[in-house]
Formats: sequence, C-alpha cells, structure tokens
Amino acid sequence: MSIVTTPEVMAPDATELEARVQELLSRMTLGEKIGQLSQVNGPWAHEGIPEDFAEAIRRGWIGSVLNAVDVERVNEMQRIAVEESRLGIPLLIGRDVIHGFRTIFPIPLGQAASWNPELVREGARIAAREAASTGINWTFAPMVDIGRDPRWGRVAECLGEDPLLASRLGAAMVEGFQGDDLRADDAIVACAKHFAGYGASESGKDYAATFIPERELREVHLPPFKAAVDAGCQTMMASFSDLNGIPATANRYLMTTILRDEWGFDGFVVSDWDSVHQLTVHGLTGSDHESAYEAAMAGVDMEMASRCYIEHLEWLVQDGRVPIERVDEMVSNVLRVKLRSGAFESPYRDPALFPVPGNEEHRASAYESAVQSGVLLQNDASSGRPTLPLDLDALDRIAVIGPLADEPGEQLGTWIFDGDASVSTTPLTSLQEVCAGRCEIEVARGLETTRDRSHDGFPQAVEAAERADVALLFVGEDAILSGEAHCRADISLPGAQAALIEAVAATGTPVVLVVQAGRPLAMESVAGFAQAILYMWHPGCMGGPAIVDPLTGARNPSGKLPITLPRVTGQIPIYYAHRRSGRPPTPESFIYIDDIPPHAEQLSVGNTSFHLDVWYRPLFSFGHGMSYTDFRYEGLRLERDSVEIGEPVRVFCDLVNEGDRRGVEVAQLYIHDQVASVTRPVRELKDFQRVELEPGERRTLEFVLPPEAFAFVGRDQRTRIEPGRISLWVGRDSDATLRVELELTGETRA
Ligand code: GLC
Repeated sequence: MSIVTTPEVMAPDATELEARVQELLSRMTLGEKIGQLSQVNGPWAHEGIPEDFAEAIRRGWIGSVLNAVDVERVNEMQRIAVEESRLGIPLLIGRDVIHGFRTIFPIPLGQAASWNPELVREGARIAAREAASTGINWTFAPMVDIGRDPRWGRVAECLGEDPLLASRLGAAMVEGFQGDDLRADDAIVACAKHFAGYGASESGKDYAATFIPERELREVHLPPFKAAVDAGCQTMMASFSDLNGIPATANRYLMTTILRDEWGFDGFVVSDWDSVHQLTVHGLTGSDHESAYEAAMAGVDMEMASRCYIEHLEWLVQDGRVPIERVDEMVSNVLRVKLRSGAFESPYRDPALFPVPGNEEHRASAYESAVQSGVLLQNDASSGRPTLPLDLDALDRIAVIGPLADEPGEQLGTWIFDGDASVSTTPLTSLQEVCAGRCEIEVARGLETTRDRSHDGFPQAVEAAERADVALLFVGEDAILSGEAHCRADISLPGAQAALIEAVAATGTPVVLVVQAGRPLAMESVAGFAQAILYMWHPGCMGGPAIVDPLTGARNPSGKLPITLPRVTGQIPIYYAHRRSGRPPTPESFIYIDDIPPHAEQLSVGNTSFHLDVWYRPLFSFGHGMSYTDFRYEGLRLERDSVEIGEPVRVFCDLVNEGDRRGVEVAQLYIHDQVASVTRPVRELKDFQRVELEPGERRTLEFVLPPEAFAFVGRDQRTRIEPGRISLWVGRDSDATLRVELELTGETRA
C-alpha cells in the first residue's frame, strides 16, 4: 500500500525534469546554491527550532537536515523552507534507517543470511513507511560495502563477502526504500554507501587506510554499488577511507570517472559525516579551504555536518578555482533528486495517514526476516536423533543459560536509533510461552554481559545444566561490540563465555549454542562442546520467536552464511573466492604444530599455503547452512557442453527433498575459469535460487548464466571474456562437489 500523494500528476519526464532544474538554478544566488550543498545536524537539544536555525533555512542556506525525527518540528522546518524562503525549495531530511525504524529487523548481515531479496525488499519497504511517517525522506542505506574482515565493526551493516549476493540484496533494499513511486509519501530516497572499498579497512580497524588493486576494486567492491545505481538509487555516500592514497571524499576517479562517466549516475553524492573536513586530518589538504576545493572538484555534491562548503566554496568560486559551472552541476544533482522525490509537491507528513510504526504486521515481517536469517551451523545426530529440533513433550527441563537469553536491547544490534527495546520479544520470553505446561525452564545467566570475565555465576549455571535434559546457551556479542568504530582484534567469544560453555558441557547435558552477534565469531575452541549451533546474528525485535520456533521445530531453518566463519582470528582474511596460489594446501601437505617432532629442523612436507597452528579450512564455509530435512542434488547438466562467447549458458540440476518435512534450500551455482590471462578465484558465486520442497518432492532447477557471468578484468584493466574451460558446481554451499565442465568457445571479447 503506497500513500501516493499525487497519483494524477505523472512523474516529470527527463526533459521536463531538467527544465525545472535549470529554471530553479537560474534564479538562485551563489549563497542559495551553496545552501543546497549543505547538510546540517539539527540542534535538537533545544525545544522547537532555534531562530538562527530557522533563519538559515529561510535564507536558503540549508539544503538538508539529518537526525530530525520529530514530525512536528520536521513539518515546521519544511514549512519555513517551502513557504518562507525565496525559492521554496524543500529540505531533504536524512536518517540512518539501516535495518528498520521503530520495527527493528535483523542486522543487514543477518538479513543477508536469508539469501532472500524479496524479504529484504519488504523489510526496507516497511522501514521506509515507518520512517516517512515522521517526515524523514532520505535514508543513509543500503550499506553495500563488501565485508571480508570480521574484525571490522561495520561488517554487521554489510551484506556479506560476495559481490553477487550483496548486489542482489542491496538492489532489493534500494527498491524497498524508494518504492514503486519515489514521489509517494511513504517512499524515501536511498543512499548506497560507503563509496568505495570501505570494507577493506586495514586490519579491520574502522576508518583505516585501504589498498585495493584496480581489479579487486572493480570485481569485488564496485559491483554492489553499480547494482544499486542500476536499481535507481538516487544518492551515494562517499567513504571516510583513504583509497590507495586518495581519500574517497577527494577521489575524482571514484566520484566522477567511474560513477558519472562510466555508470551515468545522475543523482547526488553526499560526504560522510565531517569527511570533507577530515581531508586535513588525512593530510591530503592543509586547510578546510583546500578540502572544499578537493571534494567539490572530485565530485562530492553535498557536505554532511562539516562546514567547508558553507565557509569556503563562495571564495573558491570568486577566485575562479571552482568554476561556477561545477557548482551548478552539484546543485543540479541535488535539485534533480528533490524533484524526483516529490518533496516539492508534498513536503509535509501527517502520521495519521501512515500505518502505526511497530504494528503487528510489521513485526510479523521482522519475525519472518529473523527466522530466515537463522543459520543452523551444526546439529549432531550421533545419538540416532538430531539434537534439534527439541521435542518439548519429551523434555522435563530445559536450562536457559548465558547473557543473551533475555536482553531486548542487545538483540536489536547496532544502528537502531529509533528502535524500541521495550517491544522486543526475547528468547526467554518466547520459551516461557511455548514451554508453559509442557516442560520446566530453569534460568541461570552465568554471566552478566558477554564481556563479563567473572566465573562467579558458573556454579548456578552448571547445576541448572545438571538438572536439565538440554542446556540452551545464549552467547555471542553485546550490540556495542559491533557497528561503527567498534572493531575487535580478537573475534572469539568475548569475556568468559567459552569457559562457561566448557563448564556446562562438562555436565554431559546436551548443549545447544544460540549465537547472537554482529559479526562472524571465531568459535573453533567451543564448537566441539556443542551438539548444535544456531547462528542468529542480532535478530532484531522479534528475535525471541525467531529463535525459539526453529529450536522447537515450529520452523525449519533455511539460512545460509553470507560470510565465511573463521576458526581463529589469525585466519583472517579468509573467504571462499580466494586465489589458488602456486602451492595450494592439501590434507597430505598440511602438518599440525603439535605433530612436529621435537627439535625438528626441516618440516618434511610439501611447503604449501597453510598455518602450522590451525587447519587451513574455515570453521564454516560461505553458503553453509543446515536444515531439518535432507536435500539431494543430482543430474547436474548443461544444455550445451560447448557455448560460444556471448551466448547464455543454461544449467540444469535436480533437487530432491529426501527428508520428512518441508524445507527451503538455497541452491547455489559457482564457476571457476580454469585458465585465464589473469588468475581467477577458485570459485565465484554466479547465481542462486531459494527453493521450497515438500517431503519427497523433486524439482529440476534451471539457471541461466548471461555472457557477463564469465567476464573478468584483464591485464589492461578492461573487462573481457576469454575462451576456455569453465568448471561449474551446483550445491548447498561454496564447497559443492557436483560439477560439470563447460567449453567457452570463440574469440576473446574485450
Ligand atoms: C556515520 C557513518 C555513516 C552514517 C553517517 C550519518 O559516521 O559513517 O554510515 O550514515 O555518519 O549518521
């Protein structure tokens, strides 16, 4: 349901739009132009709108405000801009609506584990509808940085390690936020961020430098941004990070050559918070005056929070260093988006016309998103029956242990400005509801927080486990341990959680780990103590039922890892689409540190690529995720074993649900270009399908790979497709074994 304010007015076509832009521009003073390029943070400590702030709006010196969520004040700001300023240009009201507004969905990394673009789109649609009711018309999302270093706190906000998955889900978020009609009152402008390469921050420290070779930039980091642009995303946010010596905020190659000249992007670019000023901190400039010059000439249209444009752009134009034509381009980009957003026709919002934020329908969607985000990592069946799902009628007592069983705020995760922890449903609450009259629950936290190092609570937890038929351990990370600037050098379980798990496991009571975290955690030291592990990320406001329903079998898990789970921190970076190297490890060539004879001088192994102190495979691979039913892949075949470059490739595979219950499988298709003019990753995800099958049902899956699925960046940094042999796999994760070979024929296409 869209609340489209002007259904009778057709959206202006490109010509009309440009005419309106130019007409407005022609009437603007330089001060008003620079005003459109300035986003300021509202002084919300005050009541109402301070007069100096109102006057700045009235004079056209402010084009956008961020962090204003009081609809009365927002409407008043818009009224001043539209009815009291000379040109009546409305404001863009920006906010970080990252994974929900009042109804909090799983963190984006969790949503990525659903591999479900439709569900991700619906979540963004609901977030837009709730945010728009307060007058917000612009969100600083989706974050489509590729995350391959889980030490980085912002991996929580990203859509995983793979460019294809992040592209499809990021595009879905753009479509959800912007809706079918960007002019609708419940649509908000999307912003793909942080352009570009932010996820490669050195050593996983936020804001650290990035060093990204051109091929890596174009094959890994840029595709999700291009997908966002192709999905109609109207704004981009420049990254804080230094890219190969030139911070993104001043990087013309990114902001103009790639974004404008190659991709044809015609929205606008906003800096990140204070990032224009921070060019002086980077040491790229010696003053805000030079920072304004560098950012403007690189292609950053609007400045967030710092005042370099407001204080220096006019003089740069007067001095002729920044041509007025450049300023006009910047202003045109902003006006174009404002015109497309419908803000001129409908600047005000009436919450009464919107669904109530946090309503049951929205919470139901957040529940579905959280359930589908859950990844069943392991589920021991050595006793003859899998540990999960629990049969509540066969259990007398469940021990509920750990610091995250009943934390309505922690389960929301990072970036939840407008969430409401008081309406979160926790796992303990849901367990108490579902176990009532069926089995006992004994609660023993064991630890106050996930960072708690004290063992004082262990005896109570151990006793509870000893009395129980199963111990559910709710562990992971408090929300504060991930997110912006919240990076960790050691991504094992914080505090004394590992010791608590070991102490509980020593009772012999079966252990189920339920992990809530903002990143992959290195769990090699604890996985062996657990009969089952359900990885729930930070699941949002409906984390309770979304965890309990899979635990009890009311729902069948279907999540798949969107990011590799390392064994130990020292394996980082570890991701599936790596290069083979000239000496790939093998089980035969690996030697474990404890197996090295005393005083050995030379290891009699094949000298291959591994660490002596850890097995060279991840703990859990990209794409991994179990179900309560069993899926079998068979009959993988190509429509044609040899295909001319430029032709689509059709791949077929049969999928069978061999189990006794309905289930969803995410079938994944990977390729490997065996020999090419540059080395290629050992595997690359090129397509996936979510398939729901009834018990016993068989379905033939068809994948159609377009020609560009085989393209890569060649030695000349240009995209090319070369003839040669391609391996293709279809299976349940990036370790799929069912394989066929394709012969790509014809001439290289550059
Ligand atoms: C922050 C973040 C960015 C966010 C912006 C506004 O520093 O880097 O993602 O959108 O500032 O809050």
